[in-house]
Amino acid sequence: MIYQGVIHRYGHLLDLPTHSKTISLLEGNTPLIPMPRLGRELACELCVKFEGLNPTGSFKDRGMTAAISEAVGRGAETVICASTGNTAASAAAYAARAGLRAIVLIPEGKVAIGKLAGAVAYGAEVIQVQGSFDDALSLVVEITQKTPIALVNSINPFRIEGQKTAAFEICDDLSGAPDLLCLPVGNAGNITSYWTGFKQYQKGLPQVLGVQAAGAAPLVLGHAVEKPETIATAIRIGRPARGEQALEAAQESNGKIIAVSDEEILSAQKVLAGEGIWVEPASAAGLAGLIAETGKGRRPERVEGSLDAKGKRVVLVCTGHGLKDPAIVTESFESPKVIPATYDALVSVIS
Ligand code: F0G
Repeated sequence: MIYQGVIHRYGHLLDLPTHSKTISLLEGNTPLIPMPRLGRELACELCVKFEGLNPTGSFKDRGMTAAISEAVGRGAETVICASTGNTAASAAAYAARAGLRAIVLIPEGKVAIGKLAGAVAYGAEVIQVQGSFDDALSLVVEITQKTPIALVNSINPFRIEGQKTAAFEICDDLSGAPDLLCLPVGNAGNITSYWTGFKQYQKGLPQVLGVQAAGAAPLVLGHAVEKPETIATAIRIGRPARGEQALEAAQESNGKIIAVSDEEILSAQKVLAGEGIWVEPASAAGLAGLIAETGKGRRPERVEGSLDAKGKRVVLVCTGHGLKDPAIVTESFESPKVIPATYDALVSVIS
């Protein structure tokens, strides 16, 4: 049968109201890519769930198909979200598909260019807020309480319903849950969705390793971070809306939530690219966390109580495509060499 998106495939397992009218861009069905070489180095059986291959380049499309389907089915005309970028692009695309107006609030100057361009290209009204993602989220919560505008952040329960489908796909592909699931944590909707999905699907439960950036690690510190900072702008969040649920997922799964530095994130991004998988910085946090916990270079303080991945089936969730944030790469490399259009010049430059 031709693939028709996550609601078509898993709708019977999603708690969506009957008024929902499916709006899909055939999101989901992303590959689980084996990583044999890196797996050998880390002594585990490693795969990447490459969510950057969704229609707008991130996992957000799984939840957005559900949220927009519900909103359009109940007659909403305008949707709004706060975003570090990916939710904005996804909301914009699905709203365009549904013929809705989309308004997206982003933290001024802190959104990667591929995401901002996406939101603009899909026709959203983009508003920059002089503040953080958390400030923007407070504003959209307030306006959706006072007006009929529909909120499509992951506070919206239908976003979580849609995002559960990634856990279902992993279980279907592996014929059961992996032993360990590593993923970045920002506003904590995705870790909540995975854990809810695994519990519901009853094909086994992974330990969950949630990874925050050190400069934006409220769940590790145990308190809100007023001025979050990290090069992984997707997870530059100081007051995660679903923080409690993220901590529950870590605890119930016998996993944990840890923080990694920006250097560790960038180094993990390079490692993945060296395997042919280019992801945005936030999406490399899962691998950075796995390396910090189990790799040769793991930090001494992590040895005690660290997760053991040896010989286990490990899935890294790579949430967004590298094309979302090209600047992080181009800013640090030298411009490619320029040669005259002659054979001799080519030979001399490559030898
Ligand atoms: N990875 C990427 C690429 C993201 O864009 C996000 C969140 C996360 C991980 C973290 O997921 O928030 O569910 O814990 N991006 C949101 C946005 C906040 O606005 O696009 P989370």
